[in-house]
Formats: sequence, C-alpha cells, structure tokens
Amino acid sequence: MIRDTHQTFSPERRKALRHGILFLCGASFAGALVAMLREVRTRQEPETVHLPPDLAEGLSIEGPVIVFREASGQLLAFSSRCTHLGCRLDRIQGGEAVCPCHGSRFHPDGSVAQGPASRPLLPVKLEPDGSSGGWIARVQS
Ligand code: FES
Repeated sequence: MIRDTHQTFSPERRKALRHGILFLCGASFAGALVAMLREVRTRQEPETVHLPPDLAEGLSIEGPVIVFREASGQLLAFSSRCTHLGCRLDRIQGGEAVCPCHGSRFHPDGSVAQGPASRPLLPVKLEPDGSSGGWIARVQS
C-alpha cells in the first residue's frame, strides 16, 4: 500500500517540517562559516619569532623560520612551511632542509633540491632586534 504524504501531513505540519529543515541547514551553514572565518583570521596574523644574535653558521630551524647564516654573517630566512602541501620542515640533513611528509628538500637559498615540491620556500624579512642584538622575523604560520 502506498501512502500519500500530502494526506498524511497536514499543511501546518509540512510547514513546521520545512522550517525545521531550513533552520538546520542555516545553523550548519553558519557554523561552517564561523569556523572558516576563524581559520582565515588565524592565518592572517603573522607569528613573531625572535632570532638570537649568535645563530650558528649554515642552516638552522628556528620554529616557523629556516635561517641560513653565511660565513660572512649575512642571513637569509624562509618560512619553514613546505611548498608542496604545507608540512613544517623539521630537520637539516646534508646541508638541506628536509620535509618529513613526502621528502622534499631545499637548498640554503630556499630553492628546491628535491621534489615533490616545485616552488622555492617563501622568503621572510628580518628586522634587527635592538633589545637582544638578534633579529625579528614575522612569518605566516
Ligand atoms: S608537504 Fe613537504 S614534501 Fe609534501
């Protein structure tokens, strides 16, 4: 036996059901929108990293920053986010920064030494830190 839903539900009941469904869809959408806006807000606030004045020569990882100190003392700094899928580079091996996720490697100048990453690391500007004699890096996390 096939039931006719138009006769089973009264117009008021159908209207209430429709409003309930619309409310649930709206609440889900609003929740997703709030979560997305929080994510965007946290991504836009750069992280401040204080680099010490006595950084070792060569490559080092200072949290979200990869720093290369040349023998002359000049510094190059890059975000430690891998340009493949965004993992954080976590170690230096053979004079290259290495991604733990898929094995990309980067030269001290930020260029790709080995894929799958195909783009160089993002450069980070350094400012002198007058209070410590080191440097301040502001990097997107
Ligand atoms: S995220 Fe770094 S190699 Fe894939």
